[in-house]
Amino acid sequence: MTTGTNCQILLIEKPTGKLGPEHFKLSEVAIPEPRDGEALLRVRYISLDAANRAWMHGATYRSAVEANTVMAGGGIAEVVSSRAEGLAPGDIVFADTGWQDYAALPAKHLTKMPKIEPLTYLLSVYGIAGLTAYFGLLDIGKPKAGETVVVSAAAGSVGSIVGQIAKIKGCRVVGIAGGKDKCDWLTSDLGFDAAVDYKDGALFKALRAAAPKGIDVYFDNVGGEILEACLPQMNNYGRIACCGAISQYDGAPSATGPRGVPGLIVVKRLVMQGFIVMDYMKERDRALADLQSWVASGQLKVEEDVIDGLENTPKALIGLLAGDNRGKRMVRV
Ligand SMILES: NC(=O)c1ccc[n+]([C@@H]2O[C@H](COP(=O)([O-])OP(=O)(O)OC[C@H]3O[C@@H](n4cnc5c(N)ncnc54)[C@H](OP(=O)(O)O)[C@@H]3O)[C@@H](O)[C@H]2O)c1
Repeated sequence: MTTGTNCQILLIEKPTGKLGPEHFKLSEVAIPEPRDGEALLRVRYISLDAANRAWMHGATYRSAVEANTVMAGGGIAEVVSSRAEGLAPGDIVFADTGWQDYAALPAKHLTKMPKIEPLTYLLSVYGIAGLTAYFGLLDIGKPKAGETVVVSAAAGSVGSIVGQIAKIKGCRVVGIAGGKDKCDWLTSDLGFDAAVDYKDGALFKALRAAAPKGIDVYFDNVGGEILEACLPQMNNYGRIACCGAISQYDGAPSATGPRGVPGLIVVKRLVMQGFIVMDYMKERDRALADLQSWVASGQLKVEEDVIDGLENTPKALIGLLAGDNRGKRMVRV
């Protein structure tokens, strides 16, 4: 039996507008006991994802998060004790641990991870962010050398990896991000060919200047007005990988656009396809082999934004939605 306190962050109310600290509460309960088939986990890092906010709207590819429950979220955790076959103390797993210090979860909901250093890479480049970038770009976007790839939320965890993989594949890469600092970082540190600050106004014109030959692949993390600006600039037979719609997650009025659908899709013979990274898990080893070799060769830089303290998790998510992260944001518990 593990004695002690388990600190948890509860979602106490689902926001109707913007997410704020008032929607969360810190709570303390006893550390849970694992039942047959379960393991007790000590959470080490909690992943902060734009999708955490989307889950508050209702069921998506997973069930909705509900008020007065531990806020859901993926995490890297260490097995403390186990009543499940194949799991032993010290093992490292990825799971929907929720925002708390400890969780007792069925083994079938845990993914055993290799013990690598730094452990944080299991949430960033070798975690959901890296795999989403890899499969979304390569399997849906299908970029060819010499083509122009545009990615939105380009300085975020998924976007920063998408742009770098597209460079590795020999493409011209344009990132769309909020603010001059982020745009400068994309071109000077990550090797993007150009970056467009969508907060600077005149997005359509700036994009035209950054992608003068048009767009062959658009990796869409945000939807809304940015998707609408990209659509008319797509080249014939272009591909749009629909990864997410951040612009709609945090209390924005429902989008009425983008305009140009389906007209531009037809005339330009575009393929626009959504995907969920979980569908690719059987092919994870292929992606990890490539990602590991690019990281080892220095072609793929890993940017992480690690915040300390479980109590800071709400603030970290609210900040991510407002754009104050660069690369993969997570909380060290
Ligand atoms: N399909 C899948 O399987 C899958 C898996 C994982 C993630 N995703 C999606 O991938 C996308 C990236 O998520 P993430 O968790 O990695 O977040 P992230 O990119 O690390 O961070 C979110 C970024 O979005 C930008 N942003 C916020 N509001 C915006 C708006 N209204 N318009 C444009 N940009 C805005 C902000 O940067 P700026 O400063 O640039 O505004 C912010 O830093 C999300 O859409 C998420 O749902 C999909």
